[in-house]
Amino acid sequence: MLKEWALEAIQPHVNLSAEEIEGLFELPPSSTMGDMAFPCYMLAKEYRKSPQAIAETIVNLIDMKGVKAQAAGPYVNLFFDRDYYALKILDELQLSKFGQSNIGQGKKVIIDMSSPNIAKPFGIGHLRSTMIGAALYKMYQTAGYEPISVNHLGDWGTQFGKQITAYKRWGDDEALKENPIQESLRLYVRFHEEAENDASLDPEARNWFRLLEAGDEEALRLWRYFVEVSMQEFNRMYERLDVSFDYVLGESFYNDKMSQVVQELDDKGLLEESEGAKVVRLEELGMPPCLIMKSDGTTIYPTRDLATAFYRHDVLKAEQILYVVGGEQKLHFQQVFAVLDKMGAAWVKDCTHVHFGLMKFEGKKMSTRRGKIVYLEEVLDEAVARALQVIEDKNPELEDKYQVAKDVGIGAIIFGDLKNNRVNEVDFSLEDALNFDGETGPYLQYTYTRTQSILANSLLLDEESKTNLTDIQEGIYAEALGDSGWNLLKLLTRFNEQLTRGIQNNEPSVLARFVLDVAQAFNHFYGHERILSEEEHLRTARVTLTRLTGEALQRTMNILGLRTPNRM
Ligand code: ARG
Repeated sequence: MLKEWALEAIQPHVNLSAEEIEGLFELPPSSTMGDMAFPCYMLAKEYRKSPQAIAETIVNLIDMKGVKAQAAGPYVNLFFDRDYYALKILDELQLSKFGQSNIGQGKKVIIDMSSPNIAKPFGIGHLRSTMIGAALYKMYQTAGYEPISVNHLGDWGTQFGKQITAYKRWGDDEALKENPIQESLRLYVRFHEEAENDASLDPEARNWFRLLEAGDEEALRLWRYFVEVSMQEFNRMYERLDVSFDYVLGESFYNDKMSQVVQELDDKGLLEESEGAKVVRLEELGMPPCLIMKSDGTTIYPTRDLATAFYRHDVLKAEQILYVVGGEQKLHFQQVFAVLDKMGAAWVKDCTHVHFGLMKFEGKKMSTRRGKIVYLEEVLDEAVARALQVIEDKNPELEDKYQVAKDVGIGAIIFGDLKNNRVNEVDFSLEDALNFDGETGPYLQYTYTRTQSILANSLLLDEESKTNLTDIQEGIYAEALGDSGWNLLKLLTRFNEQLTRGIQNNEPSVLARFVLDVAQAFNHFYGHERILSEEEHLRTARVTLTRLTGEALQRTMNILGLRTPNRM
């Protein structure tokens, strides 16, 4: 909105397209320097004048209702009349509803997310993938795309031969049902320990995997059993995080779809022998060869991803594919995309590896082999327990306090992740994430409850009164909002722009920073203006801004996966 109006002021006086002008606008660092700034460097050449002189000239030409222009060095600073424009903005925000944009136009976007491995722990990488993927899903949805989430489970591979072998020898059904991942892990570790001295184990495992690939009933039965018990554990995690998937299609789903890919690679002359294995060479691109088939004839991870990509494009009709997977798999995706490109799949340009950095919990890494394992569920439990403790201290009478503690504890973890640029490494501290005064989920939730309690109180006050916005004359807004309210109001107009930028970069942190800014600006406003003023006109304007802020907070927090309790 502000940009549109600024454009209206500037465009008649410069020889640039609307897009060029919009791209040049800058937000002045403080409202005292104006609401929008237009730099004149770019025009210096054409007009053969200094940017300062151009700024002066433009300022003298601008003549638009409610807009004051001022030259400041090479900048034209625009000031919008607050009485006139605040009403326009409030009106438009009320009509527009946050995030009803349609830049996506129903475009199908597959989001490959979470994708843990059966019989292995749900790692921190999987947690990050789940949270970032879920946020991207809602961001795309809000912008009018049709996102499709796919959980690409690691449910196939030679490790299942080892798993079956170990289970047959040392398995314990009780333990497996009770604690599937821990028990699978124990078997896995035991297998590797014993295999050092027992030479029969490795061939036995290879044989079981061969049987599995050949469809042997006993092998399949055991495999299904492992998948089932692991899924039960993963599903518990998803439930707590409030995440679901449109499709759960594990690697095994592509078993019968790979020979076609291998055949096509061969037909196109792309396959080469290398020490008995089959590869696609990528030297000219500066990459090691992509392994397609091992010497024993089994296909592997990259081959599955090739088949998967074709399925998503050809059958699911994806127009874009996002792979939300840790940065350690960069080379893998570069190779897969390069092979697709060589096969002539022009649509590979719409495939993106949305990679992210490592996350540690209080300095501890996740590791499958060594002792220092952080179990994620324990982290979630701990976050909820600490949130409950805070509630017990501050507001023990709260209704629903167990539910609120869950919302706050889980929200703290989600937001503690999403507020970081995804590519950065995160050293997660529960204490920081749960700090009600920090840049945290609980801080946002608390701010939201503040908007809601103000609204509830205003309803009590206004039961009798019928003032609504349109009855308010223009003249009161500058006074009603003050600097803090005006800044908040301007910020709210930026929701769509931030959403779009977040989507362009596949970066939920853009919205996370935005919602923090909104919360801070609101708390500032709350500290400076008496929202429930005795003067009805002032109160109506301020309460309207509060209501819109509450909507913006709720909308954005929900997109990021945070719940918004009404009280806490
Ligand atoms: N299961 C894999 C892992 O845990 C992640 C799979 C990611 N998705 C994909 N299409 N490769 O490392």
